Amino acid sequence: MKHLILIGFMGSGKSSLASNLSRELLLPVFSTDLAISEQLQMSISDIFSHFGEEFFRAQESRIFAAIKQLEAVHIIDCGGGFGYYQEVNALGKVIFLDLEFEEILQRMNEDERSKRPLFGNEAKAKELFLQRREVYLAKADIRLKSLKDLKEQINALLP
Ligand code: S3P
Repeated sequence: MKHLILIGFMGSGKSSLASNLSRELLLPVFSTDLAISEQLQMSISDIFSHFGEEFFRAQESRIFAAIKQLEAVHIIDCGGGFGYYQEVNALGKVIFLDLEFEEILQRMNEDERSKRPLFGNEAKAKELFLQRREVYLAKADIRLKSLKDLKEQINALLP
């Protein structure tokens, strides 16, 4: 087993789960969005608006290659598109945070939405959600329906 890979739609709570798991399992977190944003010294929404989505996806592919080179086991907090486009199963055990779209909407305030260029329009976001979910499901080794009961979640992850 290599890394623990957290995938799921925007706003489903991957980052919160990553930090909780990190505390419990004493493993470092690698966030794909943070890595891209730090390397370019720009926010994700500025990267999208200045260079476009295709450029951003190319950065994600570059980050995928970098994760393959990581020696130590990490919790990988994937951007929503990273888990969809990249061959994440090659990196380790894939955990899909499978919230309902309505639950995601409840979690997202205006500030959270404004950070996500692909969440501007709710109807389009829902379409994307439905399309993405099939792929996330196909890649999932473990599917979590909630952020609660962390202990149970952790036990499910351990051998
Ligand atoms: C994206 C998800 C975002 C971020 C970018 C694109 C996507 O990450 O990578 O805005 O295509 O689903 P989060 O899933 O952390 O919001």
